[in-house]
Amino acid sequence: MSLIKVGVIGIGNMGRSHARQLAEGKVLGATLWAVCDSFQEQLDLVKNYSNSDVQTFLDEDEFLETSGVDAVLISTPHYDHPKIAMKAFAKGLHVLVEKPAGVFTKDVAEMNRVAKESGNVFSIMYNQRTNPIYQKLRDLIQSGELGEIKRTNWIITDWYRSQSYYDSSEWRATWEGEGGGVLLNQAPHQVDLWQWTTGLMPKKVHAFCHNGKYHDIEVEDDLTAYVEYENGATGVFITSTGESPGTNRFEIVGDRGKMVVENHKLTFYRLTQSEREFNATYQGGFGQPECWPIEIPIKGVRTDHVGIMQNWIDAITKGTPLLAPGEDGIKGLEISNAIYLSAWLNEPVTLPLDADLYYEKLQEKINQSTYKKSNISNKTLDVSGTH
Ligand SMILES: NC(=O)c1ccc[n+]([C@@H]2O[C@H](COP(=O)([O-])OP(=O)(O)OC[C@H]3O[C@@H](n4cnc5c(N)ncnc54)[C@H](O)[C@@H]3O)[C@@H](O)[C@H]2O)c1
Repeated sequence: MSLIKVGVIGIGNMGRSHARQLAEGKVLGATLWAVCDSFQEQLDLVKNYSNSDVQTFLDEDEFLETSGVDAVLISTPHYDHPKIAMKAFAKGLHVLVEKPAGVFTKDVAEMNRVAKESGNVFSIMYNQRTNPIYQKLRDLIQSGELGEIKRTNWIITDWYRSQSYYDSSEWRATWEGEGGGVLLNQAPHQVDLWQWTTGLMPKKVHAFCHNGKYHDIEVEDDLTAYVEYENGATGVFITSTGESPGTNRFEIVGDRGKMVVENHKLTFYRLTQSEREFNATYQGGFGQPECWPIEIPIKGVRTDHVGIMQNWIDAITKGTPLLAPGEDGIKGLEISNAIYLSAWLNEPVTLPLDADLYYEKLQEKINQSTYKKSNISNKTLDVSGTH
């Protein structure tokens, strides 16, 4: 079977790594066919590890028009993801988009509509979904082992970044260039897993964002969000790039106990009976349901970015179900848009989100920005390290 010709657009820190994995044959059934970046020096770097046949383009339209690729991996800054994806779908190409799906749900909804109409394979780089711990957690929750969820709680503060990271690209950490801070750049993985593993979308969000608390940036580097779900459960999501050492602890409490993911372990504190049932029947005053802590054995390995690329190629060539369908990107983005909107309005907001209001408020942020760079170049320095 012929190889799927993949083009990578956006050859910065992440795109360079994707292009390299493809060039080195790490993704079976695919070949790196073309790369595109607005800067020649970024394109030149690809020559270090690919053969000379790989075409290079400075212009996205020429790349999509003439390169002859079958599939495109989009690794540009966030705002452009939907626009480039829609152009690629219009050319009949398959698309794998980096996270987040975009900056606001209005154009991500449009991207999803165009993707569906095209019938092409659309995936999103939620590489942390390849982590067997979260897959197991999801299986356990969705099979009912934990019972009805009462509370979710994720403290994800181990996204430490120094000022030099923020200074490395002009688009970073600005409302105009990036559209948000830690929530939109680093934590989309956890926002996605929070939703994907539990299967729950919040109904109400009340959030508090601190902009530039630890860095000279205009967007948030510290936030706390409180959410409420349809079934009455509540949740808290805390993230920051300014704490060291940070914490990564995801805890979900249900009627049958508690699941904790921390330090690469999944622990199930399993009750021998339902807490609601115990509460209704127990007559001893003080006392609690019997609980067995179980360290859940985790099989398999985390395949990360290569795993998502492989799954996308397998979906194209063999019809394999997608681990991270592109359309899922809007779920996490809607939660993060709601978190920002609540913080900006200083009041709770309900979901489904008022996407027009969010868009309007985001434009206000951009227009009022003192960091506004009217000609954001997207030029980057090398700050290696991916998530
Ligand atoms: N999944 C992960 O683990 C992970 C990790 C890091 C970054 N990311 C995501 O990858 C994306 C890129 O991040 P990065 O850190 O590589 O950024 P970066 O600034 O290092 O690179 C972006 C590149 O895109 C190029 N570019 C911008 N607009 C373009 C256009 N229209 N056409 C062609 N090239 C264009 C820039 O010149 C730059 O080289 C973001 O969405 C980011 O959130 C994902």
